[in-house]
Amino acid sequence: MEEKNKEEKKIPFWEEAYQNLGDVAFSSKPNATLREFEHLFHKQSAVLEAGCGEGQNVLYLARQGYSDIDAFDLSENGIAKLKRLCGIQGVELHAFVADLTKYRFERKYDVVMSFGTLHFVEKEDWKAFIRHAKENTSQGGIHIMQIFTDAVPASEDIAPFAVGLAKDGEIRELYRDWEILQFKSYVFEDEHPNVPRHLHASNKIVARKFKI
Ligand SMILES: C[S@@+](CC[C@H](N)C(=O)[O-])C[C@H]1O[C@@H](n2cnc3c(N)ncnc32)[C@H](O)[C@@H]1O
Repeated sequence: MEEKNKEEKKIPFWEEAYQNLGDVAFSSKPNATLREFEHLFHKQSAVLEAGCGEGQNVLYLARQGYSDIDAFDLSENGIAKLKRLCGIQGVELHAFVADLTKYRFERKYDVVMSFGTLHFVEKEDWKAFIRHAKENTSQGGIHIMQIFTDAVPASEDIAPFAVGLAKDGEIRELYRDWEILQFKSYVFEDEHPNVPRHLHASNKIVARKFKI
């Protein structure tokens, strides 16, 4: 029975790349929106990335001199790889394994970001995470969130895991009491080894907490 359960347990495709130092799961470059809005941060900004994977975004910030970075992911392989990459690149950040559905904020952040991760938990869980993240963001702090929507059906590579696809525009509603610096709704083509070319529908939001 245990054997059967093991067989049935699906493993997401990125885990293989997380296990190999020489492979790149998604991109070795930081997210373009992070680059676009980085001018709003300062080097002492307290930064949190949820679902950082192998960490290309936080590694980039650490290389730029950001000194207060927390980054977590559910994947032990992803975090182990990120820690090794920190050593290789000679940078320091706090990387740890955590589940965003159970994550409890213990401090405030100036920047909270998440790319391509929130839709892998149930909708009520990613909404609760964003609510808690907003409460634990300093005045003037920035969120950058990217989530897949159901405007296009989940592709076969992620369908078993994409349990919390957003409705188009749903994430923007969660930020109606913040200043929206950017909101984008778009469809893009994607490709991974052993998976045919496919489409994802996505929302991306950059929002700033008002100063009182
Ligand atoms: C498509 S990958 C994106 C990784 C990274 N953000 C990037 O842009 O390269 C999705 C990530 O979400 C992580 N993830 C899935 N469920 C999670 C959860 N409940 N808590 C934290 N991370 C989770 C996966 O382990 C994976 O690293």
